[in-house]
Amino acid sequence: MDAKYNIVSIIRKKRDGETLLNEEIKYLIDRYTADEIPDYQVSAFLMACFLNGLNDEESAALTESMLHSGEIVDLSDISGKKVDKHSTGGVGDKLSLILAPIVASAGVPVPMISGRGLGHTGGTLDKLESIPGFTVDMDLPRYKEIIAKHDLVLAGQTAEIAPADKRLYALRDVTATVESIPLIAGSIMSKKLAEGIDALVLDVKAGSGAFMKTTDDAIRLGEALVGIGTQFEKETIAYVTNMNQPLGYKIGNWLEVEECIDAMHGEGPDDIMEITHLLAGTMIYLGEKAESVKEGIDISKKQIENGEAFQKWLDIVEEQGGDVDMIRSPKKYPQAQYEFVIKAERSGYMSEMNSYEIGMASVELGAGRKKKEDNVDPQAGIVLKKKIGDKIEKGETIMVGYTNNPSAIEAASDQLIGAVTIAETKPESVNLISHIIDKDGSRAFEL
Ligand code: URA
Repeated sequence: MDAKYNIVSIIRKKRDGETLLNEEIKYLIDRYTADEIPDYQVSAFLMACFLNGLNDEESAALTESMLHSGEIVDLSDISGKKVDKHSTGGVGDKLSLILAPIVASAGVPVPMISGRGLGHTGGTLDKLESIPGFTVDMDLPRYKEIIAKHDLVLAGQTAEIAPADKRLYALRDVTATVESIPLIAGSIMSKKLAEGIDALVLDVKAGSGAFMKTTDDAIRLGEALVGIGTQFEKETIAYVTNMNQPLGYKIGNWLEVEECIDAMHGEGPDDIMEITHLLAGTMIYLGEKAESVKEGIDISKKQIENGEAFQKWLDIVEEQGGDVDMIRSPKKYPQAQYEFVIKAERSGYMSEMNSYEIGMASVELGAGRKKKEDNVDPQAGIVLKKKIGDKIEKGETIMVGYTNNPSAIEAASDQLIGAVTIAETKPESVNLISHIIDKDGSRAFEL
């Protein structure tokens, strides 16, 4: 091993709040990717970064080292501007599965590389893999073949793409080091910049179910992400959206796929459709198939109405080995063995649904991982029967839980009961989309 730098010294430097050299960051990332530094040392390094932060230069060096830990895909032989979307992570956040086929069906190529569930948040890959047979693992030639054929590919990180992020992501998930602006920015942007895109739309979540709990922090994360995108000459637009309650009504891998199928049939919940159309419309605009975001949104709505988005979804499910029959007839999917209900303890209005707690309850039920090695249960999850602002009678069912692990029910029930607040008065409604951030900076969102 190159003895120029010493991993213990690098950890110590960050632990003591000093600034790292670009070469030290590169050394650590390169050696970790080459399996020459163990997880426990990198865990300590991540915790030091989490606690003491990274300045802009360290952050750029981290992103760059992670990006160059693998290949940067060249999709220049595929015509059109390639555009992707990424979310910073939420609960019930299934938007990628709906908007990717919408945008691809509108003629904008979407090379999408997604992640797995992280902490209390769900991951697109886990949702896709709940479709029997669906495979997200592929090599680069296959990735390129699928995008060339369908203008869409829904892949996991291939071994070639930002391998450092793949390993760090799994490690952060189990070492409580996720909620850090530079670590999130490096993770997201290294894989997005590697996948061959020309432009990127980001959904930066703010609230109880997000990694950024306040709008101010979400704006700071959005600015960091857009700053990196701009530096790498990719047009990047971010929106800050509300994650103070789960999106839609279903949380859990297959349950969320089911809700996406409804959405593609024009029956999606309002919150999901409002953000989906905005993000899809922005992608269609950046992909130069619309003159404005507004026109992009109209096209997005049309792609649902005319059935082309759903057809694209069927095509990609079939191409990636998934059971198309299950997508056409989702009721055939077997339900989890155990079902339990959460009832309202008083009458009033739903005023709070702590999405972090709801996300953690879904992990408890099996929909996410507690350890890196855990498998997720595709059938586990939660269906909300009420959302913030809804009127509730005492004894009414407010949530239904599903699991194949009966020993998880008690803890998950307690968590779910603790996650909701029922008040006497109806809460004021809040904006779902609060800010836009682009190369001109951040400002309040208006269409
Ligand atoms: N999504 C990512 O890809 N990485 C993070 O660190 C958080 C959310």
